[in-house]
Amino acid sequence: MHIAMIGTGYVGLVSGACFSEFGHDVVCVDADDGKIEILKAGRIPIYEPGLAALVADNVKAGRLTFTDAIRPAVRAADAVFIAVGTPSRRGDGHADLRYVYAAAKEIAKALDGYTVVVTKSTVPVGTGREVERIIRKANPKADVDVVANPEFLREGSAIEDFMRPDRVVIGTESKRARKVMQRLYRPLYLLETPMLFTTRQTAELVKYAANAFLAAKITFINEIADFCEVVDANVQDVAKGIGLDGRIGAKFLHAGPGYGGSCFPKDTVALTRSAKESGHPLRIVETVIKVNDARKNRMAAKIIAAAGGKVKGKAIAVLGLTFKPNTDDMREAPSLNIVAGLRKAGAKVRVYDPEGMKEARTLLKGVTWCKDAYDAADGAHALAIVTEWNEFRALDLDRLRKQMKAPVIVDLRNVYKRDEMVAAGFHYVSVGRAPVTRR
Ligand SMILES: NC(=O)c1ccc[n+]([C@@H]2O[C@H](COP(=O)([O-])OP(=O)(O)OC[C@H]3O[C@@H](n4cnc5c(N)ncnc54)[C@H](O)[C@@H]3O)[C@@H](O)[C@H]2O)c1
Repeated sequence: MHIAMIGTGYVGLVSGACFSEFGHDVVCVDADDGKIEILKAGRIPIYEPGLAALVADNVKAGRLTFTDAIRPAVRAADAVFIAVGTPSRRGDGHADLRYVYAAAKEIAKALDGYTVVVTKSTVPVGTGREVERIIRKANPKADVDVVANPEFLREGSAIEDFMRPDRVVIGTESKRARKVMQRLYRPLYLLETPMLFTTRQTAELVKYAANAFLAAKITFINEIADFCEVVDANVQDVAKGIGLDGRIGAKFLHAGPGYGGSCFPKDTVALTRSAKESGHPLRIVETVIKVNDARKNRMAAKIIAAAGGKVKGKAIAVLGLTFKPNTDDMREAPSLNIVAGLRKAGAKVRVYDPEGMKEARTLLKGVTWCKDAYDAADGAHALAIVTEWNEFRALDLDRLRKQMKAPVIVDLRNVYKRDEMVAAGFHYVSVGRAPVTRR
């Protein structure tokens, strides 16, 4: 089948590459011609493990191409996916749908023969209807069905998530469109991946409900973690103790500095905004947002307290800037709040991230950019592990201690065992576990 993928970001590029790996002919389109130039030159504009090889293989096989010209790509397509961004609208937090609607208008003009237009971007309930209205208005003769097919991949494991998803959700009531979608996802169907066919509105809501639930789960364990610290309990054991209950499940129960990223923050806010406007406020989700925002802002104070209460003029090392490991995505990363809080208190912040430094440079000012963890630790009064990249999991603790001015580690991802930190001579503060100190 012929696919046009409109928007070649984290979702569009991964989805496009994976569909071409399934054997379909895919043209990835992006309005950013700089991105298309990079892709045409054989490079990848984002960091995602395994993506460079997957793209290279499929380009070589002639199944994957890149263009900034939307019309020919759409004209030749059996299915056109909209995978453009839906960021938070400035001021009110609603999903900003201008890119989706602009794409719909451009698609409408180029449609030729029966085509399924598929919204893969995360969009509020009712957007599919509006996309269809826009297309029919711009091109009344178009033979088209508009389907909702939200994407659940996670950055950092995006290819595996796309190739082996827990489920595929397809919102359409058209039999013709359903057949096209079944053919597109046939390799997953053969793997017995659950395919959930719903109405368009339901599919749109499934995505928001899933993200809101996961955000709530993280926020729940984070609050339990705070309570653990007060009563000298261990949040990791609590998480295990509840996670082994099949009704709860062990995933998304890692206490940390609060959720960030390109999806949970904007999607939870957009969901609460549209629910409130419809007269049915989602109070649990509203609270999750408030609790998480406050948490992200509190983490700097936790580091400052560990460093003795005053950090003016002191060097503080921050390891990890991206919102999670294995991505270069900095959107809504807790590190942004943490670095701002430390700088406000007068600290000299020394930062290092394996893949996120380029993106971080556009967002963080007044910090020292370091070449690795040890460089960041040099002369520091405290070191904070903010993102759990693998290379921070087995640091040479003796070397760190010798390089630091004061042996203080704040581990916001609970990467280390408390005993090993005490044995290595550190004052060690983590999340949801009582602090321990060198003897
Ligand atoms: N990033 C994730 O992990 C993830 C996971 C699931 C769902 N989503 C959803 O998928 C959507 C895309 O997210 P993303 O992270 O890939 O965004 P992104 O910002 O990385 O990429 C969006 C791309 O769309 C392009 N674009 C915008 N308007 C265009 C147009 N009219 N024509 C062609 N290209 C256009 C932009 O230039 C950009 O390259 C969002 O709705 C997001 O919520 C994201």
